[in-house]
Amino acid sequence: MTQWNPQAWRDKPAKQLPDYPDMGHLNRVERSLAGMPPLVFAGEARKLKSQLASVAQGNMFVLQGGDCAESFSEFSANKIRDTFRILLQMAVVMTYAGATPIVKMGRIAGQFAKPRSDDTETKNGITLPSYRGDNVNAQEFTPEARTPNPDLMLRAYNQSAATLNLLRAFAQGGYADLHKVHNWSLDFVKDSPLTERYEAVANEISKALDFMAACGVTGDKVAAIRETDFYTCHEALLLPYEEAMTRVDSTTGDWYDTSAHFLWIGARTKQTDGAQVEFARGIKNPIGLKCSPDLDADTLLKLTDILNPDNEPGRLTLIARMGHGKVEDKLSPLVRAIKSEGRNVAWICDPMHGNTEKTASGYKTRQFDNILGEVKSFFAVHKAEGTRPGGVHFEMTGDNVTECVGGTYTVTEESLAERYKTACDPRLNAAQSLELAFLVGDELRAIR
Ligand code: PEP
Ligand code: CO
Repeated sequence: MTQWNPQAWRDKPAKQLPDYPDMGHLNRVERSLAGMPPLVFAGEARKLKSQLASVAQGNMFVLQGGDCAESFSEFSANKIRDTFRILLQMAVVMTYAGATPIVKMGRIAGQFAKPRSDDTETKNGITLPSYRGDNVNAQEFTPEARTPNPDLMLRAYNQSAATLNLLRAFAQGGYADLHKVHNWSLDFVKDSPLTERYEAVANEISKALDFMAACGVTGDKVAAIRETDFYTCHEALLLPYEEAMTRVDSTTGDWYDTSAHFLWIGARTKQTDGAQVEFARGIKNPIGLKCSPDLDADTLLKLTDILNPDNEPGRLTLIARMGHGKVEDKLSPLVRAIKSEGRNVAWICDPMHGNTEKTASGYKTRQFDNILGEVKSFFAVHKAEGTRPGGVHFEMTGDNVTECVGGTYTVTEESLAERYKTACDPRLNAAQSLELAFLVGDELRAIR
């Protein structure tokens, strides 16, 4: 392998990057970003990597979730709190059912850039660049809005910094204290069977805390009772931004991308000789690789050689997103090859991106049952292959949106229009997310 530096990707074929009309403007923004403080510490990324090594060994389980795309217009303290709260609820349900520690990672504080199927979009005979996320351009269909603007990267950096600041306060400042487990309940699903089920878990946890307190084990002595680790992640797509955020860690001399703890390579940019793979191979953060149905076992092994040459557990997480009917066919050979070649990886299931469909009325949606079906097949494949399912990856929100169809509080195709707010892909709403957490919990209990 050739020597790596944060610009090395510039010599490789790059997909999914915007065409900035003014390179001077882009360079000024890149320099400005390079002078900004890092968003995360290298030491935090190393802690996450060691936890992901435990995941690879079957001793922890990952919950990764958040928006498909963060947006400037949906930015508020309440929205951040609601996302954090539903992730806490889901994690508690899964911890309790599986008796397994849950690694919590939000698709948040940096998840702006989106890969698109087409570079351009045509409406009424007018062709404009596709919308690529709020850090690249804007959704409105005008030439001004759709022209990639480097200043939007600065705005995304600032929003990420403010978001992360609040998340750190929530995680460490008392909101995540296990004694608050009852307060995380969602107002709009009150008095429902789902809330009753959650309250039952919360009551058990309260009883366990009382018992431990009687034995002298309290939050002032044990940090895990009063606070939690919460990590950020996003797709390593917009390389000018990621390069500018990549810094040498003074304690180890290694390069870290300080825009998030964990970065993943998307399904559309996983070419072995591509720019995103070149970038990801050199940063020391734990990284992910989306595995879609077009990925064959040989290419996957090549990618693991490039991305994790020392075969370190925790370095590489494979995020399978096959589609509910394809898991056995497409995932099994990959799991088998990774196992037989002795590659140390964690396997995570993304049941969202292989299950997107369009309704007759033109809404992009996903069926709750297909999402659940893919999760179940993922567990079944690992059972059959004698390997460990390591986690789940959802597009979800703490809000009461109507974007995915199904679930106990059934969102129907007809009701999609009521609160369809996503900037990109359809997300599970809070009730659907919690319901899914119980169902994942059932799977975890079964392999305990
Ligand atoms: C995503 O995670 O938002 C995404 C675009 O996924 P994928 O690369 O798997 O399609
Ligand atoms: Co998405």
